[in-house]
Amino acid sequence: MVSLILEEKKMLQPKLPEGSPTLSLLQKLQWITKPLEILETHAQIYGDIFTFPINPSDIPQVVISNPEGIQKIFTADLKQLDSGKEAGIKPLLIGERSLLALSGERHKRERKLLMPPFHGERMRAYGELIRDLTEQVASRWKISEPFSVRSSMQAISFQVILKAVFGLEDGSCYQKLTQLLTQRLEGAKSIFRIILLLFPLLQKDWGPLSPWGRLIRNQQQIDQLIYAEIAERRSQPDSSRIDILSLMMAARDEDGEPMTDLELRDELMTLLVAGHETTATSLAWAFYWIHHLPQVREKLLQELDSLGDNPDPNTILKLPYLNAVCKETLRIYPVTMFALPRVVKSPLQIGEYQFEPGTILSACIYLTHHREDLYPEPKQFKPERFLERQFSPYEYLPFGGGNRRCIGYAFAEFEMKIVLATVLSHWELALADSKPVKPVRRGLLMGPSEGVRMVVKGKRPQSQEVFQTASSSV
Ligand code: HEM
Repeated sequence: MVSLILEEKKMLQPKLPEGSPTLSLLQKLQWITKPLEILETHAQIYGDIFTFPINPSDIPQVVISNPEGIQKIFTADLKQLDSGKEAGIKPLLIGERSLLALSGERHKRERKLLMPPFHGERMRAYGELIRDLTEQVASRWKISEPFSVRSSMQAISFQVILKAVFGLEDGSCYQKLTQLLTQRLEGAKSIFRIILLLFPLLQKDWGPLSPWGRLIRNQQQIDQLIYAEIAERRSQPDSSRIDILSLMMAARDEDGEPMTDLELRDELMTLLVAGHETTATSLAWAFYWIHHLPQVREKLLQELDSLGDNPDPNTILKLPYLNAVCKETLRIYPVTMFALPRVVKSPLQIGEYQFEPGTILSACIYLTHHREDLYPEPKQFKPERFLERQFSPYEYLPFGGGNRRCIGYAFAEFEMKIVLATVLSHWELALADSKPVKPVRRGLLMGPSEGVRMVVKGKRPQSQEVFQTASSSV
């Protein structure tokens, strides 16, 4: 009886889990340069719930890679746990009306407006666009000349967003926006930008040559083009357009209200930033694993070849082995180490801990995906795991979960499958060298070191005709 009372007391004690409430200078450096290592060390020492300052602040932050804990995070009521600005998310220059920054009811309303184009028939309408853009980019590869797969995948996913989401046609606005956005996104991967992000004190405009000043001016030019595009669409409405900006402009909330120009601008930037590099990086990893492990490539080609030439995108979407390869790619090195941070709003019990309001909880995707009890030999790439068993949304979470689950998850999986099927069916590729590729930090994401260098060995014999007849205009 006494021990029961003690147990109960222990359960309700509002104490933080063990770990590192702050980081030493050396640990900070390690967090910037070798984040997976420092997370794994903490998990080995402290287990699957530990204190760790993901972002520099005095607020207590807890990392969780325990499926029961993650279930609590993803299913908690909004009054108990929320994300967005309240959880410290300030998307860099994306704007306060971005889905990422919103919380509570406003977040719910905006998600409802944004979700439909990313699913079902509407999403599948982009299949041909994705295939054509892939063929265009691949047609620039030269036999025996090494190239970076990540750069090629970025070219594809970037154009997919500009055409499918922004609805831009080739022309001067498309080119100008491409140039400005490329400057913006390339800079986002530098170590200096990570430091800018992690230390808000450095976010000051000291003129057009200072890093923050450059960023602000670049964003102002991007905004001008986006607002001009929105104004033009408003003055010449065209109900036949199926791009996501047009669908967002036509959407109405429960009170019959459309999205404002500011909301549209913030969401366009959000979709670009959240959707472009994540998909490209995941694709680069997929190409690496498929060519690093010949048996995986062979099995995949067998499945793809059984479809014949120019298969329907819907058929590609349903291929079991291709699906398992994409899932394992997103498991082994998820591009985002964490789901978005959630802030506790009223006391929340997870395991033996009671978390007090203000505490930040982060579901760690990487550590959960590397649990031995869920994924035996977690460092091995084994697509078969996904053919042999089903994982719960709290065990497998490359797209996060709950009310914040990535709105582009179905679109990203669709794009990955179409790009992989198009390239693998038509081209014979090989890794340019046999060095294993390691994950490295790229801004807030994790990606393959050196972008995965590959060479084209030739076209696959059965694909010659398809390539000659495929349209290259989008
Ligand atoms: C392989 C590609 C992608 C991965 C791995 C990925 C991953 C994620 C993750 C982990 C989250 C946080 C979810 C949470 O905290 O529970 C997220 C949120 C989000 N993602 Fe993705 N994403 C990908 C592609 C995309 C695409 C293609 C788009 C749209 C074009 C997109 C748009 C978003 C948005 C808007 C959010 C915020 C959702 C919210 O706050 O309600 N993502 N994504």
